[in-house]
Amino acid sequence: MITISPSLLSCDFLNIESELRAFDDIKDMWFHLDIMDGHFVPNLTFGHPIIEKISKKTKQKLDAHFMVLNPEFYIDTLKDVPLYNFTFHFESNANPEHLVKKAKGHFPSVGISIKPRTPVSVLSDELLKSLDLVLLMSVEPGFGGQAFMELVYDKIDQLEKRRKELGLKFVIQVDGGVSDKNASKLIAHGVNNLVAGSYVFKEGPSKYSEKIESLRK
Ligand code: DX5
Ligand code: ZN
Repeated sequence: MITISPSLLSCDFLNIESELRAFDDIKDMWFHLDIMDGHFVPNLTFGHPIIEKISKKTKQKLDAHFMVLNPEFYIDTLKDVPLYNFTFHFESNANPEHLVKKAKGHFPSVGISIKPRTPVSVLSDELLKSLDLVLLMSVEPGFGGQAFMELVYDKIDQLEKRRKELGLKFVIQVDGGVSDKNASKLIAHGVNNLVAGSYVFKEGPSKYSEKIESLRK
């Protein structure tokens, strides 16, 4: 089953509770939370208080994508919030091995993300073995609504090859510019989890379920 992760970056923030409710009956999805600190990326989104409030208003799994310089700080302050997946960037200031171990103490799933121009080879076999998820960015992190970068297909192929060779089961997630135009090709290359912001949200709540199913097909 392919999991779809609608990114709340594209939702109506002034009506976030009703936005969350609109997904109550959808199966096999996670809510993708884009946490930006204005340093790792120029943009700024939301932090602990909002994440905690979101966690109380939905039963869907929460998939937090930390585009921040100091992800360790967020493990400390969110350790009691029921996040399902905690993903941080390889390019942040973190020591990845240490951080994965620490995050695993609090969250069921831990992932590492790499930006479009960071090669898959930065992820050692040992690191891959410790991960539940690898997020390949198909846009430069920081903003929703950007154009999908085709270069991600080669990276998926490299990662899928290593996943097979090492006999691992980590999730391959792609984030940025995902729509019905590229979803089936991404899935054919081995992606198990698709993040989609503007594609899912742009036509409003009556279409959310339809949009999600269109990505899975
Ligand atoms: C970008 C974020 C994405 C963003 C995707 O930095 O990581 O999750 O919301 O938005 P779309 O699907 O509109 O490219
Ligand atoms: Zn994201």
